[in-house]
Amino acid sequence: MTEQAELSALLTETRRFPPPAAFAAQANAQPGIYERAHEDPRAFWAEQAARLTWAKPWDQVLDWQPPFAKWFVGGRLNVAVNCVDRHVEAGNGERVAYHWIGEPEGDTRDITYAQLKAMVGQATNALIELGVRKGDRVAIYMPMIPETVVAMLACARLGAPHTVVFGGFSADALRSRIIDCDAHIVITADGGYRRGTATALKPAVDAAIANLPEVQTVLVVRRTGQDIAWDEARDHWWHEVVERQSEDHTAEAHDSEHPLYVMYTSGTTAKPKGILHTTGGYLTHVSATHQLVFDLKPEQDVFWTAADIGWVTGHSYIVYGPLANGATSVLYEGTPDAGGRDRWWRIISELKVSILYTAPTTIRTFMKWGEDLPAGHDLSSLRLLGSVGEPINPEAWMWYRKHIGGDRCQIVDTWWQTETGGIMITPLPGITATKPGSAMTPFPGVGAEVLDNEGKPVDNGGAGFLVLTEPWPGMLRGIWGDPERYRQTYWSRFDGLYFAGDGAKRDADGDLWLLGRVDDVMNISGHRISTTEVESALVSHPAVAEAAVVGANDAITGQGIVAFVTVKGSVAQDADSGVALIAELREHVATQIGKIARPRQILLTPDLPKTRSGKIMRRLLRDVAEHRELGDVTTLADPTVVNMIDEKMRTAEDEEA
Ligand code: PRX
Repeated sequence: MTEQAELSALLTETRRFPPPAAFAAQANAQPGIYERAHEDPRAFWAEQAARLTWAKPWDQVLDWQPPFAKWFVGGRLNVAVNCVDRHVEAGNGERVAYHWIGEPEGDTRDITYAQLKAMVGQATNALIELGVRKGDRVAIYMPMIPETVVAMLACARLGAPHTVVFGGFSADALRSRIIDCDAHIVITADGGYRRGTATALKPAVDAAIANLPEVQTVLVVRRTGQDIAWDEARDHWWHEVVERQSEDHTAEAHDSEHPLYVMYTSGTTAKPKGILHTTGGYLTHVSATHQLVFDLKPEQDVFWTAADIGWVTGHSYIVYGPLANGATSVLYEGTPDAGGRDRWWRIISELKVSILYTAPTTIRTFMKWGEDLPAGHDLSSLRLLGSVGEPINPEAWMWYRKHIGGDRCQIVDTWWQTETGGIMITPLPGITATKPGSAMTPFPGVGAEVLDNEGKPVDNGGAGFLVLTEPWPGMLRGIWGDPERYRQTYWSRFDGLYFAGDGAKRDADGDLWLLGRVDDVMNISGHRISTTEVESALVSHPAVAEAAVVGANDAITGQGIVAFVTVKGSVAQDADSGVALIAELREHVATQIGKIARPRQILLTPDLPKTRSGKIMRRLLRDVAEHRELGDVTTLADPTVVNMIDEKMRTAEDEEA
């Protein structure tokens, strides 16, 4: 389908899936919630905040000095107490907090809230012994194991903001994050498991902090037992330091605006931004959305966010939201095909998972693998399915509903970002009649609008830029160390409004359809990667003169990275050395950023299409990468360049085929 045809199909979508009456009757979200929140958003959020346990109530719900917000001003609470201790005190200590499933078959652990409390107490005492104090930043570079959650909660308990770096990022990427937030301690593991083999994490930490004397402490969980280098003065085993500590730790209540964590995410520049989240507002937002969007019933549900803790989805909906609500969650270490392509369906039927939350790219992969795999398992425990991270195409939505949800489950397509902290645009199960492919409407208390170039709201049927019009409790409080960049990045495109970087469309009913990024950010399998970041990684290779990177449509991963590279004059350019160089460049990007940023395709070309003022025309390169008719080339300094690249691309692909 052409893009135009796809867009008009969106607008003529006539399928509706109203919630079944039985679901609606028991749903956490009841009619009137939108109206109530609309009338008085602050009162709505205050009502949500009151579901948490505060050591000192707030004096003021919101202090809004655009674009700087303070939520629940004057209130004090401890996130770890809210996520763990209070459930034990309420008599739910025996409830399972996590069914942890390691990647190797049979490697599982159930961790109750009482056990989690003990583990967090010990880890907190260990951090204190290692010299960590309130306000210090702690870097966490871990596989998907219970200790990762414990480490985060111990930081939260102490008031030492964590920065979790996804285990798939390279040593270089880890290093730049450690330096940016000035962390003096790193918590890691010897390694993790990926597709049946042990991968190494500790060596990446060693490389990341080489010649970085500020990092004086590395705390290492033994996960795989592989041999690793050891620095007696700096490195400590978790099982030696943590497990001998007392389980008791008296938590201090922190200010509602105390920093909880920094999560790095890619923007339109080469340097990732440290997105800062704080305590009271963030926990309110993730707890409220988790309870209402997923209809969470803590006594009955088994909730599974199939994402990595190293991304915001994991922070908000594996760790903080579910724990704040006393949920039982699945924590799965592996990939969807580890131990067989039906691994997920086995997990769901064995643990009776009732709510599943994942990304469209994974759903499309399952579609490719075929419906027989899920059909061979009892998935009748599922009652609600969620989607996040990228636009979900109607075909994938329908497949998810039919083949995973048995035509019975509600589907919630949830739009949000690292910056928003929690879900912002979503159906509410039990209330919303959903449409395949639409995230539908803003969550109660959230204000969203679609604006045209001049900043005017588009009419129904129109497309434009997605903005958020009201402050919300989970909103980022800034970019670590760079307040001016915060204002510039998010609040300058439309005066006084938060610009998300996404395009969106309103359909004839006014419901929202997300159309993807409108800036230089790509979305690869639901992971945000900036074109500039990949370009600077490429240009840092000695053979490269210039590089232009675009995200091209990809049937499975949403977008794929395609790079156009010109090499320096001195570099030999016969066919063989070209192939070798391309392989080297792909690896170079993996080392600079991480495997997730490795380009799908690299084309070596003698020149790049530029305007007369020297600006690279990425729009045309995207046309080339997506095999479209080339758009307007009249502004190019030399229009023959792009035709030559187009020709070269076709030849390269013919050869590959
Ligand atoms: O483009 C949007 C896309 O993912 C971006 C945010 O990426 P990140 O900060 O990594 O957070 C991902 C998980 C929350 C957004 O700007 N995005 C996220 N959810 C959706 C989406 N695009 C369309 N539909 C969604 N449901």
